[in-house]
Amino acid sequence: MAKIVAGVATSHVPAIGAALDTQRSSEPYWAPVFKGYERSKKWIAELKPDVVILVYNDHASAFSLELIPTFALGCAAEFEPADEGWGPRPVPTVLGHPELAWHMAQSLILDEFDMTIVNDMDVDHGLTVPLSLMFGQPTAWPVKVIPLAVNVVQYPPPTGNRCYNLGKAIRKAVESFDQDLKVVIFGTGGMSHQLQGPRAGLINKDFDTRFLDRLVTDPVGLSRLPHVEYLREAGSEGVEMVMWLIMRGAVDNQVQEVHRFYHVPASNTAVGHIILENKGAA
Ligand SMILES: [Fe+2]
Repeated sequence: MAKIVAGVATSHVPAIGAALDTQRSSEPYWAPVFKGYERSKKWIAELKPDVVILVYNDHASAFSLELIPTFALGCAAEFEPADEGWGPRPVPTVLGHPELAWHMAQSLILDEFDMTIVNDMDVDHGLTVPLSLMFGQPTAWPVKVIPLAVNVVQYPPPTGNRCYNLGKAIRKAVESFDQDLKVVIFGTGGMSHQLQGPRAGLINKDFDTRFLDRLVTDPVGLSRLPHVEYLREAGSEGVEMVMWLIMRGAVDNQVQEVHRFYHVPASNTAVGHIILENKGAA
C-alpha cells in the first residue's frame, strides 16, 4: 500500500531558483535562505520518498486566461521545466508517476472533486524551486513527482476548506493504491507577499507566524479563513497559502513538527517553510 508519511510546506519564490542557477546562493543576501533548508535536505535524503505530490500554482506558464483549471493533476510521464521568459531553468526533467496519478484522478473524481487531468504540461518555478530547495542541484531528481496545479491567480481561487478536504481525499486515494510507495506531499507558495500596487512589499510576520502555528495545531480552524483575510493580512499573493492546506489535509490530524524556518526578505517576500511528519510513519 502507498502511504503519505510527511508533508512539507515552502515558499516557491522564483528569485531563489535564479540565485541557485546563477551560483549566487552563498552571497550574503541569499545564504541565510539556503541555510534554512540545510536540515530539510538532510531530512528528505534520509527519508528517501518514492513520490512527491507537489501542490503548487502555475504562473501563466502552462495555463493562461484562456484556460483556468481550479485543480489540475499532472498524469504524464514527464514534465519539462517551463520557459518563463528567460529560458527554462537548468534543472532536470521532472519524472511523473502516471500509474499513481491516474489512480488519484479516478479516486478524487469519484470522490466528487472535479480534477482536470493534464497529460502535457511544462512546470514553472512554483514546482521546480521547492524541488531545488529540498533536493539541491542533482543531475536527476531522486523522486517521481505528481504535479497538482491549483488556481490561485485568477479570482476565485478554491477556499481553504475545499483545499483541506481535497488533502483528505488525496490521502484516501494514495492509501488505496496497491504499490508500496513512500509518499511525501508538498504545499507551496506564500508566505505574506504582495507584488503590485501601493501595498507592494507587504510583509506581515505576525500573520505568517500565526498561520504556521495554526497549520500545526488548528488546521480545521485555519481552513475556515476567508480569502479576504489572506488578502488583507498577507497581501494579494499571500492567498497562495491555501495550497498549504491541501498538504495539511493529507497528513495526520496530530503531527510532529520536524522543522520550521522563516526569513525576510527574499525578493520582496517572506519565506516560510515547515515539515510535518506523521507520528511513527517514517
Ligand atoms: Fe507563486
